[in-house]
Amino acid sequence: MSENKHTSYISGKESRRITKFNRKVTKKLESERANANKDPQLYTTKMKDENNVVEFDNVCTFFFTEVGTVKAVDGISFEVPKNSTVGVVGESGCGKSVTSLSLMQLLQRPTGQVVGGEIRFNKGDGTAYNIVNTPNSIMEQIRGNKMSMIFQEPMTSLNPVFRIGDQVDEAIILHNPDMSEEDVKARTLELLDMVGIANKEGVYSMYPHELSGGMRQRVMIAIALACRPELIIADEPTTALDVTIQAQILDLLENLKKKIGSSIMLITHDLGVVAGMADYVVVMYAGRVIEKGTADDIFHHPAHPYTIGLMKSKPVVGKKVEELYNIPGSVPNPVNMPNYCYFRDRCEMQCDMCSGKYPPSIKISDTHVVSCYRFYDEKNVIEYPKTVNPEEL
Ligand SMILES: Nc1ncnc2c1ncn2[C@@H]1O[C@H](COP(=O)(O)OP(=O)(O)O)[C@@H](O)[C@H]1O
Ligand code: SF4
Ligand SMILES: [Mg+2]
Repeated sequence: MSENKHTSYISGKESRRITKFNRKVTKKLESERANANKDPQLYTTKMKDENNVVEFDNVCTFFFTEVGTVKAVDGISFEVPKNSTVGVVGESGCGKSVTSLSLMQLLQRPTGQVVGGEIRFNKGDGTAYNIVNTPNSIMEQIRGNKMSMIFQEPMTSLNPVFRIGDQVDEAIILHNPDMSEEDVKARTLELLDMVGIANKEGVYSMYPHELSGGMRQRVMIAIALACRPELIIADEPTTALDVTIQAQILDLLENLKKKIGSSIMLITHDLGVVAGMADYVVVMYAGRVIEKGTADDIFHHPAHPYTIGLMKSKPVVGKKVEELYNIPGSVPNPVNMPNYCYFRDRCEMQCDMCSGKYPPSIKISDTHVVSCYRFYDEKNVIEYPKTVNPEEL
């Protein structure tokens, strides 16, 4: 960490200290993980609630970089119930993608590490995987099979030198090696049909560059659905698309969810995207969950000043305004996070308690939880985020 907190300058001595520290800590974490991977007891756990597909419990994911430890995700807790859509919202850089990469175990290791907490994935037999310690051999069966991911940029996710049909076939064969060639092709065509591709036979033998962005995203969704996953993680699935195509893709996801009975974790910086689709919404800010609840709680009774700001900065059809609201200030430096509320320096609703330590999660209704001192009531405090001090790892 920089010696002088007010500049980003790092001396040679400090830089050498950081490099040495990173090497030591990542080596230790990797060896602990290798040991945990060997012991099923260390990667098997129990769900808090059997009705959830995934539970994030005080998860901390840090990057040990040359400028210091980036606490990209710092003590987040939320769950994805079965057959539901959970929107994860927050501005760029708040840790949404790192959350999903932690769940898929696709972090860039050894720099990126889950250093604390549990990510529970329901096995459906009364037990769960703790993804944090699950060995890669098992993750390979889970990824694409039980949970799959749709990325933001469909062009870079599809291989430009293979035909569409081959790429969808491959996803099916990977998890069904005994399926006959004809059955695989029939399933691919069925999937292309399911995602609304009219000319499925034609598209089967096309290359990705022959398709539009919206069509490519439909193919990516077909690949994600190849094995009827229990969870689909859609990370900014419509950000690279035009507004009209965006709406079509969101409709498609919603219909598919009903058809195949899976849950969706919909990650976006755009509140408008989750508005019509999510059953639950999780709002993130600077690596932490600052508010969560049902879509109705968040859209009709937003409680955290940041969520209120996001709502005010969202354009509304039919409402005339001179200028959209802009939340003043910027997010704190992720290497040197303050020890008080991360939103304080931008907050227009501060009270006396806000100078104290980071606010706890406070229950304001059966479904609605917020991290803000404006709602502080000792009886309703659920927890303070359990964070990890990198120096103590
Ligand atoms: N590979 C990496 N190395 C270092 N820092 C990273 C890496 N990936 C992400 N981060 C940092 O983690 C934070 C969260 O990033 P991300 O989850 O990608 O944000 P977003 O909410 O936009 O998806 C950011 O501060 C980002 O700079
Ligand atoms: S805890 Fe205080 S500073 Fe933080 S968001 Fe709430 S009112 Fe604002
Ligand atoms: Mg992202």
